[in-house]
Amino acid sequence: MDALIPRPPARLGPGAVHRPGWLPKEQQRQLVTACREWAAGPVPLRHTRLPRGGVMSVQTVCLGWHWQPYRYTRTAGDVNGSRVAAFPEWLAELGRRALADAYDDPDAGEGYDPDTALINFYDGRAKMGMHQDKDEQSGAPVVSLSIGDTCLFRFGNTTTRGRPYTDVELASGDLFVFGGPSRFAYHGVTRVFEGTGDPATGLASGRLNITLRVTGLTD
Ligand code: SIN
Ligand code: MN
Repeated sequence: MDALIPRPPARLGPGAVHRPGWLPKEQQRQLVTACREWAAGPVPLRHTRLPRGGVMSVQTVCLGWHWQPYRYTRTAGDVNGSRVAAFPEWLAELGRRALADAYDDPDAGEGYDPDTALINFYDGRAKMGMHQDKDEQSGAPVVSLSIGDTCLFRFGNTTTRGRPYTDVELASGDLFVFGGPSRFAYHGVTRVFEGTGDPATGLASGRLNITLRVTGLTD
């Protein structure tokens, strides 16, 4: 739904920017369609297994490189052994546009060449604990796009899981970028507000989050 109260762009830290409603509805729809295809395979959307047993409450599918705690590989040894789907050039281009807009600098996306995406699906009960994205060997920014139900996103600091942090609602179409000194900030999703998404995106329920990253890895 469009917000009744305008949500202005916000800077949550140096290099950390929230751009509400950045992605037009039509592009959200296209991304949902693409995510649905990626969710089908070659490595299917599934709950990632954690090293101590247990599974994550979100469901994930990766592009380019397969992430599992706490490394990237080309094939999904913890799922079905298949190589993950390729990272498409159009998604890298979207990432470059995202950086230019987030940082209000037409050159900010220059040279940004993400090679992996983690696509996370949250149902109404899914959450993500406070963590750093630190399995990448690159300090290039993370570009995050949200579609579907609104969530409460907690963006913290680079030294502890705890305070200081800021809670911000990420709604459908919102862009969040964390780069520069905020690249390795702790962050998490504390809750999803079920039924707040617009089914016109093609997502009848739940929340999709797509993060673009540069792994810094080579084969
Ligand atoms: C993540 O931390 O990888 C996902 C964050 C989100 O779902 O907004
Ligand atoms: Mn993360």
